[in-house]
Amino acid sequence: MDKEKKGTNMARRSFLTRTAAAAGAGAIMAGGLSNAVSQTATTKTARTGKLDELNVAIVGVGSQGDVLVNSCLKTNADIPGLRFKAVCDIWEFNRKKAVKRINAYNEKKGYGTVTEYTDCQEMLDDKSLDLDVLIVATPDWLHAEHAIAGMKAGLDVYCEKEMSNSLELARQMVLTERETGKLLQIGHQRRSNPRYRHAIENLVLDSKVLGRVMQGYGQWNRAVSEDIGWAPKDALTAEELAKYGYDTMSRFRNWRWYKRYGGGPIVDLGSHQIDIFSWIFGADPKSVVASGGIDYYKQHEWYDNVMCLFEYEHPKTKEMARAFYQVQTTTRYGGFHEAFMGEYGTLVISEVPRDGNWLEKEINSPDWNKWVKKGYLKEVSTKMGKTKTTNVVLDARVSPAAPKWPLPIELGMLPHQPHLHNFFDAVRGKAKLNCPGIVGYETAVAVLAVNDAVKSQKKIEFKHEDFEVHA
Ligand SMILES: NC(=O)c1ccc[n+]([C@@H]2O[C@H](COP(=O)([O-])OP(=O)(O)OC[C@H]3O[C@@H](n4cnc5c(N)ncnc54)[C@H](O)[C@@H]3O)[C@@H](O)[C@H]2O)c1
Repeated sequence: MDKEKKGTNMARRSFLTRTAAAAGAGAIMAGGLSNAVSQTATTKTARTGKLDELNVAIVGVGSQGDVLVNSCLKTNADIPGLRFKAVCDIWEFNRKKAVKRINAYNEKKGYGTVTEYTDCQEMLDDKSLDLDVLIVATPDWLHAEHAIAGMKAGLDVYCEKEMSNSLELARQMVLTERETGKLLQIGHQRRSNPRYRHAIENLVLDSKVLGRVMQGYGQWNRAVSEDIGWAPKDALTAEELAKYGYDTMSRFRNWRWYKRYGGGPIVDLGSHQIDIFSWIFGADPKSVVASGGIDYYKQHEWYDNVMCLFEYEHPKTKEMARAFYQVQTTTRYGGFHEAFMGEYGTLVISEVPRDGNWLEKEINSPDWNKWVKKGYLKEVSTKMGKTKTTNVVLDARVSPAAPKWPLPIELGMLPHQPHLHNFFDAVRGKAKLNCPGIVGYETAVAVLAVNDAVKSQKKIEFKHEDFEVHA
């Protein structure tokens, strides 16, 4: 795998897709792009019109919708010219909070007030809004409905992960992206995080500082917690809940845990990190085995603890790599991070730099000084007694992949900004999407299969065609 040049003509289309979609500024495929990715590229350049000011609508302004609005409006994101025109949410409590925040911003900018909706289609049908962009941050089971409606209404769409809890609906999203020629960015925000791009594109894939990478590891562990609550005065009525497809207020608030609405923790959290495995290995998985159960939260429908093992086969060399992933919701041990182990060293990385932001040398590592000198790595030495350990930390400030971001990008520093930034740059024809629909789809195939593997207790073997989308 380490010998592979990114410009060579790879056999597997999924490999092409993975590599092309994830490619940074310095990593252009000479062998051609997959249909989906090249379509995305042409869509952007074909776009004309008022790109200085974009009229934005958002559907779903719960906790993540709030993060996205905040990430858009914080000026250090350097995303100029975003004018929020409309907010849609069925829950007045959340809708009013978002409207208040956006109106305060709009007033300062002289943008006028935002219009409120409870029905997404009604919002999209309101041509007086003259919308350019739709942000979708509703629960997973509604992503397809809202994203497809947005693209069909002529809007570019930023849609949160998980793309959908139904593979068929995710497929429909990719097909609509192609049919309409609109942009669809899926919210796997690590794909735009400058530290991830620097570590993966510059260090692991281009510079091959780890040598051949044969193992991946990821975990997202959370302590025991209670279900999300609500104040009785703010509750939706039984009629409203039924109208919108929820049977109780508790399920409405804790939708992640129920099969109709989401995929449980492995999909909710694991999708971010299992997505990274494919990015590093440059291939979709070949198989997965998994174990999990409803061990603790007996009121839920999805597995609270899952462990799984993916196999990857390099499309050309047939070299194997394996990655273990676990999501635990009854212990916060080790937090959340990913690790990639190669013959010369290990990359440990996390969205929170405290939990992962460094490379560990193997005993037989070649001299890393050249990368330190180049500014790709920063050497740090720690001393415990007489033992001196020298490792390197990732420093993307010099990264050609993303030179403009203040580092470190931490959760508190709005890690969604770079991904939104990439999306709005693509809308303006200045960039290629880092996570178009087909990449989100391939990740959904891998991640949703984990739940199937837990249920069947059998190894699931993937076929190449499983990761393709055809009409
Ligand atoms: N990228 C990330 O790091 C990240 C982090 C958290 C959540 N998410 C994703 O964001 C999405 C939202 O998650 P959340 O944590 O904000 O959930 P949430 O329950 O806090 O918010 C969902 C919102 O959608 C609204 N809603 C439900 N049905 C609706 C409908 N038919 N029309 C309009 N609005 C409707 C709800 O009233 C609520 O305000 C999910 O897909 C989740 O996976 C992504």
